[in-house]
Amino acid sequence: MKRNLLILPGDGIGPEVMEQVVRIVDWFNNKKGFDFQVEQDLVGGAAYDSNGVPLSDETLEKAKRTDAVLLGAVGGPLYDQLDFSLKPERGLLKLRKELDLFANLRPAQCFDALTHFSSLRPEIISGLDIMIVREATSGIYFGEPRGIIESDSGGRVGINTNRYTTEEIRRVARSAFELARRRYNKVCSMEKANVMESGVLWREEVTNLHKEEYPDVELSHMYADAGAMELVRFPKQFDVIVTDNLFGDLLSDCAAMLTGSLGMLPSATLGKIKKSGLPYAMYEPVHGSAPDIAGKGIANPIACILSFAMALRYSFDLGNEAEILETAIESVLADGVRTADLMQEKNKAPATTNEMGNCIISKLNETL
Ligand code: IPM
Ligand code: MN
Repeated sequence: MKRNLLILPGDGIGPEVMEQVVRIVDWFNNKKGFDFQVEQDLVGGAAYDSNGVPLSDETLEKAKRTDAVLLGAVGGPLYDQLDFSLKPERGLLKLRKELDLFANLRPAQCFDALTHFSSLRPEIISGLDIMIVREATSGIYFGEPRGIIESDSGGRVGINTNRYTTEEIRRVARSAFELARRRYNKVCSMEKANVMESGVLWREEVTNLHKEEYPDVELSHMYADAGAMELVRFPKQFDVIVTDNLFGDLLSDCAAMLTGSLGMLPSATLGKIKKSGLPYAMYEPVHGSAPDIAGKGIANPIACILSFAMALRYSFDLGNEAEILETAIESVLADGVRTADLMQEKNKAPATTNEMGNCIISKLNETL
C-alpha cells in the first residue's frame, strides 16, 4: 500500500531536522516493509527565494493531493522587510487556510528523563500530558476587516477582527471532545467571554454541543488569562484545552515551555476527512526556524520526528508504529543523549542533530 508524504523543510533549522525525519521514513520503508513515497518541495523563505512567493500554486496543489504534509519551519531575519503578503509565515497560514486545517493539536507532554529541565518544580510537571486544540483557520488571524488605514483625524489605524461562526466553533470543539474521549475525558474551553462577543458565542456553542452530543465528557470553561495562570500554577489539572486561534497560539507556547524545551514538541493540524477516508493533515514541530543556530547541525530533531509519529497515528492509523518511534525517543533520552538545547552539564559535549538521529535509529533497530 502506497502512502504519500509531502515534505516541506522550509527555512532555518527546518531542513536539518527534516533530514532526520527522512532517515526515519526510510527506516520504516526498508526495515518494516512500508511504502512511504516522499516528495519534497519549498515553503516559506526558501520558496520566496526561488519562486518569489512563500507558497506556489503547484506546491499548494501537491499539498491538497498528498496524504500528509510534513513541514519543518518558516521564517528568518532575511525576510523581515518583505511585504506582509510575501512573508514566509504567509506560506504556512495559506496552507492551513486552503486545506481548511481547522484543528491544530499541540500536545505538551513531559518526558520522565527531562522533568528537571522545566523552570517549574519536577513534581508540578512530572507525568504532564496536556493536549491543546487550537482553532487554526479563522478568528483574528483571518477576520475581515483588517488592514492599516489612514484615520480621519490624521495618523493611522491598525485593524484586525476576531470573527467566529457557529460552525467554526462547533467543528473544533467536536475534535476536542472526540480526543478527550480517547484520553482522560476532560475538556476545558478557554475564551474571553467577559469582554468579547466572539467569546460569548464560543462559550455558548461549546456548551450546546456538549449537551447535545458529549454529555459524558467533563466540560469546564476558563477565561484565557486565568487559563494561562492555571497552566503555570497547576498544569496537571488539564487534559484537553480547546481555544481560538490567537489564544491557542499563546497558550500553546506557554504549555510547551512547561516541558523545558520547545525542541521536543510536535503538532498536527487536521481538517475534513477526504474521500480516501484520511483527513487533510499537516504535521510540524512547534518550534520555529531558530535562525541563530541554523546551519550548524546542532538543532534538536525530536519535535520534528515526533511530528512524523503523529502522522503515523492520525493520518495512517499506524498507532503501533507511532508508539515504537516514541518509545525509541524516550529510551534515547533515558540513556542521557542530549542535543545542545537540553544540555545542563557543561562538561559533556552535546549530541549533534545527526548523532541524535543515529541514536534513535539504533534504538529502532533493537526492536527488529
Ligand atoms: C505557530 C506560529 C505561527 C502562528 C506563525 C509562524 C504564523 O507562531 O504555528 O504557532 O502564529 O500561528
Ligand atoms: Mn506560535
